[in-house]
Amino acid sequence: MTTIKVALLGFGTVGSSVYQTIQTRQSKFERLIGRKVEIVGVLIQDETKQRDIADGILVTSSFEELINICEIDVIIEAINGIEPGAGYLQSALERGIHVVTANKELLAHEGKTLRRTADKGHAQLKYEAAVAGGVPIIGTLQQLLQVNNISNVEAVLNGTSNYILTEIAENKVSFQEALNAAQKLGYAEADPRNDVDGWDAFYKLMILSDLLLGNQPDWTKVTRRGIRNITLADIQAVETAGWRIKHIASLQVNEGKAQLRVEPMAVSEGHPLYDVAGVDNAVSIEGDLAGNIKLHGPGAGALPTASAILEDFVQLYKESDNRQTISETAFSKEDFNRLQDWL
Ligand code: NDP
Ligand code: HSE
Repeated sequence: MTTIKVALLGFGTVGSSVYQTIQTRQSKFERLIGRKVEIVGVLIQDETKQRDIADGILVTSSFEELINICEIDVIIEAINGIEPGAGYLQSALERGIHVVTANKELLAHEGKTLRRTADKGHAQLKYEAAVAGGVPIIGTLQQLLQVNNISNVEAVLNGTSNYILTEIAENKVSFQEALNAAQKLGYAEADPRNDVDGWDAFYKLMILSDLLLGNQPDWTKVTRRGIRNITLADIQAVETAGWRIKHIASLQVNEGKAQLRVEPMAVSEGHPLYDVAGVDNAVSIEGDLAGNIKLHGPGAGALPTASAILEDFVQLYKESDNRQTISETAFSKEDFNRLQDWL
């Protein structure tokens, strides 16, 4: 049985969870893709931190060392910010190494360039975990887009903001206490201003825009507001009217014109995002054939994110195996004649 060699970039909340899951689900991978999966290297920033990583795996803060010493088939990237990650992924894709990333800030800024490199280098770039954590929104939209026109997407895309709003409303904690808890639980970004000022949801919306519209709007023309200034009094005032405040990212196409916004909004009972609580994310999609589809589930955290990353990873090998199988098992003329007789 051949082995797929994986390098992890980042060993924080997400990277360490991917590591654990790969180590403990070997038999599942073998069953699904018929290959062993071996982690050959881990890139980190601080070499002095103690980490639970098996002997024999290279742990380094030098990307050059990682990429030159290890033979790598797939890079799984879960570090913070645009650089140095974007440069690393560019260099990996140029070498034909597949990339799976959870990094939405990087993708919103550099996704287009990386996709071009991936296409040229015959490698794949996958990013299910970058939008809505464990909720399979990217794969679902890709499926729907094959036959639908999608005119409207409304979503809760930042788990930390939704968690904070829920905690303030239900447990009357302060904004700061709720944010501290979200950080402890591994939901928040390394710089939590990204969450509470709406940037994280904005980056995710730009990734959806790339997917749905083939490009991104002028960022300066997109409304982006976070939840930083929302108080318990605001939440209670809205609640007395039977409404709730949700931080909503939306993309609407009207007569060929797209409007994108990220902002807190009051929604009434019956709205598709009214019941989204805690760290959950949800996405309501309007397809012209499929109608309204709603996906709802954990939007952040170690295990849901590892799940999305490893779904991409498996898909990578299922897709290339399918292509191989089709060409390897293409019908001979005799098979084809036999099939026609039988039909
Ligand atoms: P953490 O802060 O927990 O971990 C970040 C990891 O990246 C650490 O291991 C850190 O190294 C490493 N790192 C940071 N900068 C560098 C660098 N310059 N060179 C090498 N390694 C570096 O973050 P998360 O695991 O929470 O998030 C990682 C990525 O995944 C982010 O892009 C985030 O937006 C995304 N994401 C996070 C989710 C979540 O729920 N947490 C969900 C979906 C996506 P060291 O250990 O040495 O400090
Ligand atoms: N900080 C992000 C959130 C992580 O809270 O949604 C998941 O992308």
